[in-house]
Amino acid sequence: MLARQASKSVFGAVSRRAFSASASHATKVAVLGAGGGIGQPLSLLLKLNPRVTELSLFDIRGAPGVAADVSHVNTKSTVTGYEPEKNGGIEAALKGAEIVLIPAGVPRKPGMTRDDLFNTNASIVRDLAKSCADICPDAAILVIANPVNSTVPITAEVFKSKGVYNPKKLFGVTTLDVVRASRFISQLKSTDPANENIVVIGGHSGETIVPLLSQSGHSLEGQELADYIKRVQFGGDEVVQAKGGAGSATLSMAMAGARFAESLLKAAQGEKGVIEPAYVESPLFKDQGVTYFSTNVELGPNGVEKIHPIGKVTEGEQKLIDVAVGQLKGNIEKGVKFVKENP
Ligand code: NAD
Ligand code: LMR
Repeated sequence: MLARQASKSVFGAVSRRAFSASASHATKVAVLGAGGGIGQPLSLLLKLNPRVTELSLFDIRGAPGVAADVSHVNTKSTVTGYEPEKNGGIEAALKGAEIVLIPAGVPRKPGMTRDDLFNTNASIVRDLAKSCADICPDAAILVIANPVNSTVPITAEVFKSKGVYNPKKLFGVTTLDVVRASRFISQLKSTDPANENIVVIGGHSGETIVPLLSQSGHSLEGQELADYIKRVQFGGDEVVQAKGGAGSATLSMAMAGARFAESLLKAAQGEKGVIEPAYVESPLFKDQGVTYFSTNVELGPNGVEKIHPIGKVTEGEQKLIDVAVGQLKGNIEKGVKFVKENP
């Protein structure tokens, strides 16, 4: 409820007022992978956010061009583009960053699972995490690169190895699952999607994504419910198929990433009751070996303030949770093992 209100200020009906508001303090936000399909629109949305005063765009290629383009948008923030050998490289890009969003990495093609991206993206995320741990260890790190279920544990292990891990500041971005779940139910029920905020828990891949429709006040039965759950779980595949080899969700993901960053900034700047879903270190299923889990999280000035419990679920939802927990365990172990074997 509160997250929906929070996000509405920039992404909903009252956005005009939010965009013209003035920033209350200086905030540097960095995007790693800013030249890519997500990175470009995400950079644009962050440029439109008055809470961001300095936008730092890094990519192995293309970020200075994106920065030049975005910098002409008539909002106050400064924008600088960095490449490994340009403008001071990643060190300059990350120095003083309060929030770092990481969409760097390859996207899926039809027929692939997110886990199929592991071999390429694990080392990209590991190396970027090393830079973050060295240069901006106190920043909030928002991991978008897939497979999120494993890239978040990879980032945590890197931070741990450098003695700077703070579980309150590491987030796997699962906002898009809630955005989809909310949009899809609004299509079925002919409601305003801005007023929907379906709770989605678990992880960010297929059956690890668990929508809890029973907590929304809506009900679907039989095949309609099964189809809805499947669409939420495999919404990413819908986009991958439609793009026919040209990548995965970029525009909706940019919106979701910008919404999460906006919520973090609001909380950092003192707003109370800011709630967003996120894949974070969580006690909820720790006894089953699942150390990271996505649920609604209350955000505060120091990052994670409170992890919400799962609440009341139906028998069917409990079965989905059991499947998700089983799969997540393997995804997490894979990420942890990767860093141990490839430090
Ligand atoms: P893309 O290929 O269009 O862009 C990726 C960018 O990362 C490229 O510009 C590339 O040059 C850059 N890059 C690669 N290695 C880098 C490095 N070491 N340092 C800096 N930049 C580097 O891909 P995309 O469509 O933007 O997707 C990016 C990732 O986000 C994929 O892994 C995709 O699966 C994931 N994704 C996650 C979600 C989510 O909900 N969490 C949603 C959509 C996509
Ligand atoms: C998504 O949910 O759209 C992303 O995780 C990208 C993908 O591979 O589906």
